[in-house]
Amino acid sequence: MESAPRTVEVFGDDDVPESVTWQAVTLMRSEWPSLFAAGLRWITRPFEEDVAPRYVVVRHGEVVMSHAVVLDVPADVHRTGLRVAGVASVLTSPPYRGEGHATAVLRAAGGLVDEGGFDVAGLFCAPALEPFYARAGWSVCPGGTVEDDADHASTDLRMMRFLSPAGRAAERRLREEPLHVGWCW
Ligand SMILES: CC(C)(COP(=O)(O)OP(=O)(O)OC[C@H]1O[C@@H](n2cnc3c(N)ncnc32)[C@H](O)[C@@H]1OP(=O)(O)O)[C@@H](O)C(=O)NCCC(=O)NCCS
Repeated sequence: MESAPRTVEVFGDDDVPESVTWQAVTLMRSEWPSLFAAGLRWITRPFEEDVAPRYVVVRHGEVVMSHAVVLDVPADVHRTGLRVAGVASVLTSPPYRGEGHATAVLRAAGGLVDEGGFDVAGLFCAPALEPFYARAGWSVCPGGTVEDDADHASTDLRMMRFLSPAGRAAERRLREEPLHVGWCW
């Protein structure tokens, strides 16, 4: 299998090429159709500017092979009293899976959250992906997550990184207690 030379690019909301956001949102539509319900049904980009999205991308020419989004999670969504970075939409286009692209994207996303002045960072994933994220320095929070309007805890794992002194001071609480959020990113 071809192992393409790999550069991980980072774009902000102001300089991300439309071809990147279109491919990202189209890959997400296919992978996670249930996300595209109600108000999100016709979105044309993964996130709006209010969460300051940074697109972390591996491309071959204009073809997006793998991507993730780092966002500033709004205070009224996470309600921790901390500065919270989110990592979301980690996805490799099917033909290019198993070639290390998501690992490289996640490493770059980790660099952004580590250097971004955040207290903690969080992501949500299927339980089977725990080892994949643990290898990249993310820890499982067994307290789980409850979204507003949900009548039970999310079946996704919440995984976090504890970055600043304030974030590390909150680590035990964030790990062990349920986190109530407006929405899982
Ligand atoms: C998970 C995903 C992003 C990995 O992308 P990738 O570029 O193939 O990842 P890498 O090549 O860097 O690493 C592959 C590793 O991912 C892990 N992995 C991928 N899919 C997995 C699955 N379904 N279950 C468990 N682990 C999985 C494995 O550890 C695998 O390592 P291996 O190849 O040695 O078994 C990709 O499979 C994908 O887009 N899946 C669908 C969307 C998704 O689930 N995204 C994660 C959202 S939290």
